[in-house]
Amino acid sequence: MDSPIGGEEYLFKIVLIGDSAVGKSNLLSRFARNEFDTNSKATIGVEFQTQVVEIEGKEVKAQIWDTAGQERFRAVTSAYYRGALGALVVYDITRKGTFDGIKRWLQELDTQNDSSIVRMLVGNKCDLENIREVSIEEGKTLAEAEGMFFIETSALDATNVQTAFEIVIREIY
Ligand code: GTP
Ligand code: MG
Repeated sequence: MDSPIGGEEYLFKIVLIGDSAVGKSNLLSRFARNEFDTNSKATIGVEFQTQVVEIEGKEVKAQIWDTAGQERFRAVTSAYYRGALGALVVYDITRKGTFDGIKRWLQELDTQNDSSIVRMLVGNKCDLENIREVSIEEGKTLAEAEGMFFIETSALDATNVQTAFEIVIREIY
């Protein structure tokens, strides 16, 4: 893991939130290392990775924070959100319950952060079309109602993973 302190001109903190097993850690490993783990374990506490992205000829360092979806494994909430400029709020398109859980994550985000944070609703596991429980329309509608960006991704086959992070980073920039 990298140090959270860097001398770069631009350092953006972005947090990943969403229920357990929606694929937050795999979205991060796909983005930062182009890796996917079929047997990944539930995250305990907090992890982060930094990734340099070039925007308009400038190097922007994105520091992506990942925590546990499960309450009992989570670290101190206020520290997790502190200073965050962007958030990817993730659900699993094959589990409706994780989509219903989004409201709770948005509430937590609102209480922990000012409203200027860039928020992206992410429907992950779009490779599993055959067992989909949440339609693209439902995702879009919720995102519109909440004034968020929306994208469907697959950490498994890498669909839209880069794009999801880059949209948030560009919007912060
Ligand atoms: P917590 O750390 O408990 O909050 O879970 P998480 O949101 O970090 O989920 P994680 O990345 O550990 O993924 C959970 C499971 O879903 C793992 O078995 C992954 O291999 C699988 N998974 C993650 N992303 C995808 C995806 O895009 N497609 C498919 N098919 N499986 C995925
Ligand atoms: Mg995890």
